[in-house]
Amino acid sequence: MHVLNGILIVLMATLALGALFVLYCRWRYPEPHLNWSEIDIESIKFPADFLWGAATAAHQIEGGLHNNWSEFEDSRGLERSGEACDHWNRWQEDFEMLSELGLTTYRFSIEWSRLEPEAGEWDSEPLQAYSDMVDNLISRGIRPVVTLHHFSHPAWWEDRGGFAKKENLPHFVAYCERVFEALSDRVEVWCTINEPIVFSSMGYTLGQFPPGHRSIWQTLRTMRNLMRAHSELYVSLKSRKPDACIGMAKNVTLFDPLNRWSPVDWAVARMLEWLWSGAWLGGIRTGRMLGSRISGSKGSLDFIGLNYYTHFLTGLFMPTTGELSFAKRENEVLTEFGYPMYAEGFKRAIDLVSALDVPIEITENGVADSKDVLRPDHLRRHLWILSEAIGEGHDIKSFHHWSLMDNFEWAEGYSMRFGLYEVDFETQERTLRKSGELYRKIVKEHMKI
Ligand code: GCO
Repeated sequence: MHVLNGILIVLMATLALGALFVLYCRWRYPEPHLNWSEIDIESIKFPADFLWGAATAAHQIEGGLHNNWSEFEDSRGLERSGEACDHWNRWQEDFEMLSELGLTTYRFSIEWSRLEPEAGEWDSEPLQAYSDMVDNLISRGIRPVVTLHHFSHPAWWEDRGGFAKKENLPHFVAYCERVFEALSDRVEVWCTINEPIVFSSMGYTLGQFPPGHRSIWQTLRTMRNLMRAHSELYVSLKSRKPDACIGMAKNVTLFDPLNRWSPVDWAVARMLEWLWSGAWLGGIRTGRMLGSRISGSKGSLDFIGLNYYTHFLTGLFMPTTGELSFAKRENEVLTEFGYPMYAEGFKRAIDLVSALDVPIEITENGVADSKDVLRPDHLRRHLWILSEAIGEGHDIKSFHHWSLMDNFEWAEGYSMRFGLYEVDFETQERTLRKSGELYRKIVKEHMKI
């Protein structure tokens, strides 16, 4: 009888705690859904000095690269990036497209494997080409925003363990310092690392990005090392040029419980969101990450770059292989990537990074939509949310649409098309999409300088 009573009490207590946890979470983490048909999405307001832009990354557009990614494509039998958009040979024409859209900021990345194809062997020509790109952008009145690491690095560095090994970081820092020395007289805004959590989870937990491992320990180690690399860079670059503006591009994916009454779904959602965002924001705020002190990380941001795409609905039985089928709410539309369009989450993501108390640059936002049927609405909704956030007082400097043109979408190859310009990969012809025309119109209307 006593045992039965005991079990009953434990059971009741667990249920009561579970219920309290759910009620607390439901109150603390609301998941708003707007009735878009009632919203005048064309009524948006942006400050006069707001910067309008687009973003790209070296491995996705340049073509002709040999790096960790090209090796992974071959070893996994993935679609090869190959010539990509042949941007390395066509960048002048591509920059013409930026001007055609009337843009005032452009985010692109530097390909380390071009600069240091073998350990310690430096090639100065590519650095000169990047420097010419910077000059060209400035002559067009476009602000260059340079990303130092956007998922790709030399194959020799990957062979040594890349970011999974702390002792490899000096190579990375040396490469970045070299680029900084060459370009920082003209480039003011720098992203150290693009989406460190996507890099570590896709490469070390889900195995969908190089090096294709599936180990939680390696993931955690890599996360810390990415934070170390960012922090070391911040300290080093600031000591060279104190007025440089150094940040990182943070992907904020929101995690919401599939069932908002399930304590298990809530627990999974909260844990994933903490790993995805909380651990990084905490690292910047406190100087500690995942139990380790990270030298220099406290306050190591002059701005935060925000990449926002979607929210994931989580439960106990989540795919662990990066499968492209995600749950969605009834009122949501799925994008071609398989995840829902959820513009309301953009505001939540902005609120989240605002806790860092530094200016925000929207470094990426866009949608995979080969037919260009969703992109116009996607663009308008996200810009409406952005305009509201700015109206509420958030210090947001810029918006970079992902992407300027269709390009190599990593593990998805060329199937996912994110461009304002459509690219015919046979002929390398670029064609402005309807949504590109819309963006150009919006930019023109809201550009007051
Ligand atoms: C990322 C990258 C981009 C992607 C974009 C679309 O988020 O993976 O920063 O390189 O192409 O986000 O998925």
